[in-house]
Amino acid sequence: MRRKLVAGNWKMHGSLAANQALLREVIPAVAALDCEVAVCVPFPYLAQARAMLEATPIAWGAQTVSEHGQGAYTGEVSAAMLLDFACRYVIVGHSERRSLYGESDAVVAAKFVAAVKAGLTPILCVGETLAEREAGVTEAVVARQLQAVIGAAGAAALGRAVVAYEPVWAIGTGRTATPQQAQEVHAFIRSLVAGHDTAVARSLRILYGGSVKPQNAAELFAMADIDGGLIGGASLVAADFAAICGAA
Ligand code: PGA
Repeated sequence: MRRKLVAGNWKMHGSLAANQALLREVIPAVAALDCEVAVCVPFPYLAQARAMLEATPIAWGAQTVSEHGQGAYTGEVSAAMLLDFACRYVIVGHSERRSLYGESDAVVAAKFVAAVKAGLTPILCVGETLAEREAGVTEAVVARQLQAVIGAAGAAALGRAVVAYEPVWAIGTGRTATPQQAQEVHAFIRSLVAGHDTAVARSLRILYGGSVKPQNAAELFAMADIDGGLIGGASLVAADFAAICGAA
């Protein structure tokens, strides 16, 4: 049985004061739940997340990582640096990184490798745009994104990772994939991984992300291959995030 994971993706939101208020509400609200909870925060707030969360069951992590170990890469943050802040998770290949910062499948795969090598658990995001869904190439796009990572890291490395299916058309739009639409792609992802390694496929947690809200979380999380969620907007509202965790 795969343990459900609900991970907040704060994106570029927050302040020391706002984060403190948010986490002070979230910590007690999720303490007794039996799903795993994590928050992926902006780099400058990793120290704060660690200080506030290290005595709690809530894990923390970052939203991207450099593919390089160290060197002349101004502005970048390495996996070892994230480990210095005791991060467990790092989001890799979020669609905003792919579309706004030009991260190719190859770069995403290199970041994935860097994260796994360092002992971080990457949350690998995959998903199609609206045009791609309408063109009927959803599975081809998701397969290409996954194969890039499997080719670079090996299928066994997915055993130390989490996958998040995030249809780009559902992110921040209020337009959620239906549980059936999401389940179809999740099952496809699991079968693709099973083609490489059945044990890894069976234990792989595949999160759904894209406009998850307290109102739709339970029906999404009830699907056979949906093992939790990656939550953007709703992770910034303590009551909403706690309710979504509760639904898991
Ligand atoms: P959303 O974002 O929940 O605000 O749609 C999800 C994400 O981008 O991870």
